[in-house]
Amino acid sequence: MYKIVEKEILAPNIFSMDILAPRVANSAKPGQFVIVITDETGERLPLTICDYDKEKGTVQIVVQSMGSSTKKLAAFEKGDSLKDFVGPLGVPSEFVSEDLDELKKKKILFVAGGVGTAPVYPQVKWLHEHGVEVDVIMGAKTKDLVILEDKLKSVAGNLYVATDDGSYGFHGLVTNYIEDLVNNQGKQYDVCIAIGPMIMMKFVALTTKKLNIPTVVSLNPIMVDGTGMCGACRVTVGNETKFACVHGPEFDGHLVDFDEALKRQGQYKTEEVKKDEAYKC
Ligand code: FES
Repeated sequence: MYKIVEKEILAPNIFSMDILAPRVANSAKPGQFVIVITDETGERLPLTICDYDKEKGTVQIVVQSMGSSTKKLAAFEKGDSLKDFVGPLGVPSEFVSEDLDELKKKKILFVAGGVGTAPVYPQVKWLHEHGVEVDVIMGAKTKDLVILEDKLKSVAGNLYVATDDGSYGFHGLVTNYIEDLVNNQGKQYDVCIAIGPMIMMKFVALTTKKLNIPTVVSLNPIMVDGTGMCGACRVTVGNETKFACVHGPEFDGHLVDFDEALKRQGQYKTEEVKKDEAYKC
């Protein structure tokens, strides 16, 4: 059993949990995810790692309660325990194994959308701890949905916040902000790492392609069981078929067939809605 040692509400329907899982905390790397099973009847729930503390032995996850499984997890409180907490899984971010001197020369832009801010944080933190300062654009629909701003501010070189409705920070989409930074503010980037809703990553990739900025995307949102068995995360990258949970979750954003991935995600969402209805009964 894995004890929840902290729980915090970050925004409407978005919460974080610190889970006591020393072995996972000890080997976690940026870009990886865990699988959570709440109880005997719980489904496998793949969730990205937001933070880890090797000394305390804790791993932080951030969850948006949308479907039946995440709503069930949301009902757990500090002091409760989860049946399973498996990980770390997935291939760590590529930069973790890059030459540090080369990495320090690069101008890196992170683009985080919604709860995608959670997996961006450990990446930016790792880079900051290794002497690499990066720019981060953080996007949300509205001010109330901006999460982890202080945490990110403490590790980012520059943090730019954008809201779709203009209630906080830059008024517009993250793609507008990328264009503004590059075209109007003279910023140049060697690589962009985008994590957020699939539709956001699709349009970030289209924008950065125009601007000639190589781009990495993280396809966490299309995972269902996280084991390589359900096929939900199958995606075409270039001419190859990949599974986000086994080969990823990070891929070259300019090679991902987003339309195909969005279509598959839509099919599984329908199933999720059905389960959600059953959970309410
Ligand atoms: Fe099921 Fe990858 S999430 S195969």
